[in-house]
Amino acid sequence: MIKVAIIGASGYTGADAIEIIIHHPEAELVYLTALPQECGNLANIFGQFKGRCSLDIEPLDIDKLAALAEVALCCLPHKVSMGFVPKLLDKGLKVIDFSADYRIKDTKIYEQFYQVKHTDKANLQKAVYGLPELFREQIKGKDLIANPGCYPTGALLAVAPLLKSNLIETDSIIVNAVTGASGAGKNPSGKFHFPNMNESLFPYGVGAHRHMPEMEQIASQLSGDEVQILFQPHVGSFDRGILSSVYCQPKQQINGKSLIELYENFYKNEQFAQVCQEPPNVKDVARTNYCHIFPTVAKGTVVCFSAIDNLVKGASGQAIQNMNIIFGLEETMGLR
Ligand SMILES: NC(=O)c1ccc[n+]([C@@H]2O[C@H](COP(=O)([O-])OP(=O)(O)OC[C@H]3O[C@@H](n4cnc5c(N)ncnc54)[C@H](OP(=O)(O)O)[C@@H]3O)[C@@H](O)[C@H]2O)c1
Repeated sequence: MIKVAIIGASGYTGADAIEIIIHHPEAELVYLTALPQECGNLANIFGQFKGRCSLDIEPLDIDKLAALAEVALCCLPHKVSMGFVPKLLDKGLKVIDFSADYRIKDTKIYEQFYQVKHTDKANLQKAVYGLPELFREQIKGKDLIANPGCYPTGALLAVAPLLKSNLIETDSIIVNAVTGASGAGKNPSGKFHFPNMNESLFPYGVGAHRHMPEMEQIASQLSGDEVQILFQPHVGSFDRGILSSVYCQPKQQINGKSLIELYENFYKNEQFAQVCQEPPNVKDVARTNYCHIFPTVAKGTVVCFSAIDNLVKGASGQAIQNMNIIFGLEETMGLR
């Protein structure tokens, strides 16, 4: 059994990670930790675990964590994460980090978008981007995985077959996406408060969202050319899920049928990336690790839709998929 610790266990992604590990046949939760004010019996913090997990959430003691666990799921905000990750790696743990701290290789871009100094450049260079459908081989056996952002997961899975086949103009991509309110974590403010949020839908982060450079970095890696992406996120009044509509100009005329064939071939061995025959919706993937994808052509423009659960394929499910790969387990274990 793989022994798993969760840091930031009192947050949304922490809770979903707990839920998955409870059902995982080859992994067991050994240590849950959060800020002292959020500690106590797990079931008192998240009622859904009553009778299902008897662990307490404890204030972090790194020595205790290292004595108990082999892998740490680091469900912390950016900046906070890079304060803990080097200590965990020094203790010999495998780390899967949920924050943006180890995703963007160019620290100037990271510092510009996140407005903090990067304090762990050595480990940043070693970290592997944990999108298994695209980087499975690099993930195997690694010590530090940068778990992808939720929007980049949906957008990159939607556009990867096109980039890898060199079929689209790389400066033409527009990602238009809508997330549910859990994307903001457990402490939202202002507009995300229920009376403002309920039955509403609005754009935010216009031209400046932090996931834009992450998408561009990985898309450029897939394409071999510099890729430019205009990313426009929105938030809607549902709990979980991201629907992405990705628009791009093909280099040559292409039809919907051949796009579907391209995608089915690209993802033919993937359990969690499923090509659909019609546009997907977030309800079909809620609380699952699946990404539903539908590529088509409208008025000569390629349009690819994808739907994921932001907390599962966009965070905790993908982290456990990565954990399975690191430890050589069946990749889908605990996630089907
Ligand atoms: N929400 C999503 O859809 C999503 C998707 C992909 C990736 N992510 C990323 O995953 C990470 C966690 O997101 P989340 O949505 O789970 O956030 P969250 O609900 O706000 O939870 C954050 C967790 O980190 C803890 N924490 C905050 N500051 C801390 C500090 N200084 N020291 C120790 N612990 C601290 C919080 O403790 P308290 O309970 O005491 O506040 C909480 O347990 C973030 O980096 C986020 O960007 C989120």
